[in-house]
Amino acid sequence: MDLLTLWNLEREEVLKIIEDAEYFKKNRYGHEILKNKSIALIFESPSTRTRMSFDLAVNELGGHSLMMNEGEIHLGKKESIADTARVMGRFVDAIVARVKNHKTLEDLAEYGSVPVINALCDLAHPCQILADLLTMKENGKNFKGLKLVYFGDGNNVSNSLMIAGAILGMDVVIATPRSYEPNGLFVKKALEIIAKYGEGSLTLTDDPEIAAKDADVLYTDVWISMSDKNKQMDEILKIFPKFQINDEILSKAKKDAIVLHCLPANRGLEITDEVIDGKQSKVFDQAENRLHAQKAVLKYIFEH
Ligand code: CP
Ligand code: NVA
Repeated sequence: MDLLTLWNLEREEVLKIIEDAEYFKKNRYGHEILKNKSIALIFESPSTRTRMSFDLAVNELGGHSLMMNEGEIHLGKKESIADTARVMGRFVDAIVARVKNHKTLEDLAEYGSVPVINALCDLAHPCQILADLLTMKENGKNFKGLKLVYFGDGNNVSNSLMIAGAILGMDVVIATPRSYEPNGLFVKKALEIIAKYGEGSLTLTDDPEIAAKDADVLYTDVWISMSDKNKQMDEILKIFPKFQINDEILSKAKKDAIVLHCLPANRGLEITDEVIDGKQSKVFDQAENRLHAQKAVLKYIFEH
């Protein structure tokens, strides 16, 4: 099966992926579950963590990875995405792809006839969020009723966080400036999932101080994402600074709250040095957890 967004996963499936990720964290080597499997890793945009985690995950699980960066293959240039997908489907057992437009993932999935994993697109970053859930769990957080507050730009990361939070019964608060709210379809899906389970909540606000009150997890991301072509930093700097995670915002959260950032970070913008380097920050555990979570994702897609 494909993993393009999280909304097709049931609660039990998400919990199992996190459990497997915990297992892989404790037992890093000696697995052969991808023996004789080849996985294409396509990167249309730069990546440090996602590229390293998937490349290592595939190889540490006994598989073979083929890394392909933009400009090295004919993805939508000189050859349609559909034809590239048809060819890739003859060579590899799965495709992991970071793309500029979500539609590219849908085309790879439709025409490739092998599972496709979203390694970030303009709309979603599901694999990141599965690693974030592991980070929350290993810091003693119970998902049900957890207050997760995201500050900043309503982007791919916030979109996927809302869906994960809804699946696991969290109280998710997304604090963004007006006109920078998360994607409407993802909001709708999150609300549908909350209604389905009868647990959790989703609140959108433009008041970061109220949002931070009694938070268990504070999360932020860059104010301009890779897929944002029209945002100007001088405009953003007029609107976003009050959404920065700093000591003052952190002081409003619970005493044992943790701080997450998917990285790369613009220190001094969405998060201060004091916070990202502080005791409550778990961002480097979170980055490491990409490796363990991505193994669990690969296991999951080949079992379904
Ligand atoms: N968090 C994340 O996806 O990082 P990279 O862009 O380095 O892969
Ligand atoms: N929202 C960021 C995430 C980077 C991992 C981006 O898309 O650039």
